[in-house]
Amino acid sequence: MNSTSISWPQKTHDLHNHHFDSTVWDDFMFRDTDVVVATYAKAGTTWTQQIVTQLLHNGADDFDLTISSPWIDLRVPPKEQKLAMIEAQTHRRCLKTHLPVDALVYSPKAKYIYVGRDGRDVLWSWFHHHSSGNDAFYQMLNDTPGRVGPPLERPQQAIRDYFLTWLDQDGYPLWPWWSHVRSWWEIRHLPNLLLVHYADLKADMPGEIRRIAEFIGAPIDEDRWPVILEHCTFEYMKAHAAQGFSLAESVFDGGATSFFNKGTNGRWRDVLTAEDIARYEQTARRELGEECARWLATGK
Ligand code: A3P
Repeated sequence: MNSTSISWPQKTHDLHNHHFDSTVWDDFMFRDTDVVVATYAKAGTTWTQQIVTQLLHNGADDFDLTISSPWIDLRVPPKEQKLAMIEAQTHRRCLKTHLPVDALVYSPKAKYIYVGRDGRDVLWSWFHHHSSGNDAFYQMLNDTPGRVGPPLERPQQAIRDYFLTWLDQDGYPLWPWWSHVRSWWEIRHLPNLLLVHYADLKADMPGEIRRIAEFIGAPIDEDRWPVILEHCTFEYMKAHAAQGFSLAESVFDGGATSFFNKGTNGRWRDVLTAEDIARYEQTARRELGEECARWLATGK
């Protein structure tokens, strides 16, 4: 495909809330070698950042994803500080976004990996994330200069009701869910976008890592392959969380190991009723269409 004949996504609006400032991307200077990991949140972002980092740095064990692979559209640290830090990076860069495509500056230069996960698993993961935030977590999000919209309150509901509120209010207290997934699914044919699914990473991590390596053009050093694999396991990432993802150490009860909570899917099965499940699945088909709804639920 000739890149000049492609209709590249255009940003149509900004997104601001207790987490987001989408305008940070407006001043971001892309390099041809950049890799962007995109997700809604809780879909396996950090896992995929770790995979990319391991591939780019041949199994190194001294990278802190907070610094090496920053979340560009997070409102903290201040835009100027964050952009200067990223611009100073001399290694190949791996960036993180939680934006939908229409609020993002999408570059033909970069490689994008969009990670999907069933909405019920995302919500289960986010509920734990939200529930284990400590005072520093709420301070970071709610007391940040320039915050737009209401603060993020502590969760008030038990998990089933919390899920139903998220479903009925399309992503509340985060950002809209269905349009986020749809926006990335709709551009899946672009040559610089790879769709990855959490369930596939769980089922065949070595195969998925090789697929990612091929896509980003990072040849695997087979001598280092066992180390690369080990560094991407749940057990390794949880055990090394304080050093490997230091931001989480200061903002969650239980520190960074709490961020790597269970690393499993389907925990909602024991809690949601058959009606709840049917409601979610009907909404998914209506909002996404059959094919995308199936992909989101299964990776297939
Ligand atoms: P759970 O909360 O279900 O345990 P994100 O990085 O997008 O915020 O996603 C976090 C989720 O990914 C958490 O899910 C976390 O445990 C899981 N995760 C992180 N690293 C993982 C790994 N190596 N293997 C499996 N799951 C992982």
